[in-house]
Amino acid sequence: MTDKKFYIETYGCQMNFADSEIVNSILLEEGMKPVHEAEEADVVLVNTCSIRENAETKVWNRLKELRSIKKENGELTVGVLGCMAERIKDKIIEQEHLVDIVVGPDAYRDIPRLLEEVDDGRKAVNVLLSLEETYADIAPVRTTGNGVNAFVSIMRGCDNMCAFCVVPFTRGRERSRPMESILREIKELSDQGYKEVTLLGQNVNSYLDGENTFTKLMDEASKVDPEMRFRFSSPHPKDFPDDLLHLIAERPNLCNYIHIPAQAGSDTMLERMRRPYTREQYLDLVEKMKSIIPRVSLSTDIIAGFCDETEEEHQQTMSLMKEVEYDLAYMFAYSERERTLAHRKFEDNVPEDVKKKRLSEIITQQMEIQARRNQNEIGNRHVVLVEGTSKRSDEQMSGRTDTNKMVVFDRKDFKPGDYVEVEITGATSATLLARPIGKTTLQDYYGAEVAAA
Ligand code: SAH
Ligand code: SF4
Ligand code: F3S
Repeated sequence: MTDKKFYIETYGCQMNFADSEIVNSILLEEGMKPVHEAEEADVVLVNTCSIRENAETKVWNRLKELRSIKKENGELTVGVLGCMAERIKDKIIEQEHLVDIVVGPDAYRDIPRLLEEVDDGRKAVNVLLSLEETYADIAPVRTTGNGVNAFVSIMRGCDNMCAFCVVPFTRGRERSRPMESILREIKELSDQGYKEVTLLGQNVNSYLDGENTFTKLMDEASKVDPEMRFRFSSPHPKDFPDDLLHLIAERPNLCNYIHIPAQAGSDTMLERMRRPYTREQYLDLVEKMKSIIPRVSLSTDIIAGFCDETEEEHQQTMSLMKEVEYDLAYMFAYSERERTLAHRKFEDNVPEDVKKKRLSEIITQQMEIQARRNQNEIGNRHVVLVEGTSKRSDEQMSGRTDTNKMVVFDRKDFKPGDYVEVEITGATSATLLARPIGKTTLQDYYGAEVAAA
C-alpha cells in the first residue's frame, strides 16, 4: 500500500468533511501520500452525500469525469465513501469501470484491506453500519483547513427518523463518542493553535456518554481553553436543554449562535414530517433563547413543498420565519428519498413549479430579513476571529463574529487566528463591513463587558 498517492474529495455536510479527515488519517498511517489533484493520484476517494437528488447528481457527474481520467490511467482506483455507499453499491459496481471500492460511513477502518482486494483485481465493498463505531481513537488529520477552525464529531448516526430524511438509513443508529476522547482532541487542537471548534452530530442535544450530557460536554470543552471558541451543529428543537442556554449566556467562549432547524411552520406539516414539536413549542423555545441570551443569533433549515403541503401551510412557514427573524437560513425544495417514511407512505405530490415558487418566496423574504438585520448591526461592536484574507481583496481580512456573521475589514497586521475588536460600518445581506479597532482576547473583551454590566 505504501507509496500510493491518494486524493479525497468531499461532498455534503460538515460531518462528511470531518469523516474525510479520519480517512485521511487512516491512509497516512498506511504510508500513503496525499496529493492535491485527482489527476496525480493512484487512489481517488469521493465522500458522498444523499440528502437530496441534486447532491447525488453532482456525485454521479463527478464519477463520470473520473472515468475519463481512469481511461488514461488504467491503474487509477476510484472509491465511493459516505452516504451514497449503501444505497447505490449494486448500481455502482455494475456500472463498469466507474468505481472499484464502496465504503459506508462506519467501515473506514477497512479501507486499507479493501484497497488490497482491488490490487488483487477484485471490486471491494463494505457498507456495514455499526452500533459502536465512533472512530474515537483515530486522530483526524486536517490538511485542507485554515488552521483556525476545526470540526469535531461527537456522535454518529441518527435515530430521529424525520419522515423526509435519508440520514438514519445512510448513517445508521445514533451513538455518542466518549467525552474524554472528544476533550483530548480539543486539547490537541488548542495546542496546535486552533481557535474555534464546532462540535458535530445530527442531533447533538441527545449526546450521552454515561452520565455526561451535551451541556456537560460543552461545559468541559469550554474550560479546556478559554480563548478557544465553540459552536455546535445541530441541536433538535424537541429536547433543547435550558441549562445549555444559561451556560452559553455565561461563558465568553461559547458562541451566541444557535442553528435550530424548524423545517416548517404549521402543526399539521410538522406532524407529517414526524418532527415532534408544535409551532407554539418551537416559538416558545426561540423566545427563551432570545431572553436568556440577549444577543443570540439564530439560523434554521426549512423545507418547501413536502408531501401534501397546502398554500396555507406554506404561508405558516413564511410567517414563522418572519416571526423568528433568523440571521441565516438554509432553504430547500423537498426531494424524495428512497426508504424514508415519506417515500413509503406519502405521495411527493406538490408540483415541481409550485415547490420552486414557494421556495423562492421563502428565500426572498429571508433575504429581506437578513439585509434588515445586518443593517441594524451598523454601529455595533463585535469580536471577530480572523480566518483569512477576504475573497475579494488581499488588502482585507475576513472572519466571523461569535454570532456567526462574516465581517470584512482592513488587513493591517492582523493574521488568521487573531481576535479583533471591530465596529460595523456597512452591511449587505451576506456580509458586514467594519473598521478594526484593535487586537483583543475573549477574556479581556468579555471580561470588561461583564465587569461593566
Ligand atoms: N440532523 C440535522 C439535519 C441534517 S440534513 C438536523 O436535523 O438538524 C440538513 C437539512 O437538509 C435538514 O435539516 C433538512 O432541512 C434538509 N433535508 C433533509 N432531507 C431532505 C429532503 N429529502 N429534501 C429536502 N431537504 C432535506
Ligand atoms: Fe435527518 Fe431528522 Fe436525523 Fe436531522 S434529525 S438527520 S433531519 S432524521
Ligand atoms: Fe449528506 Fe450524509 Fe451529511 S446524506 S448531509 S453527507 S449525513
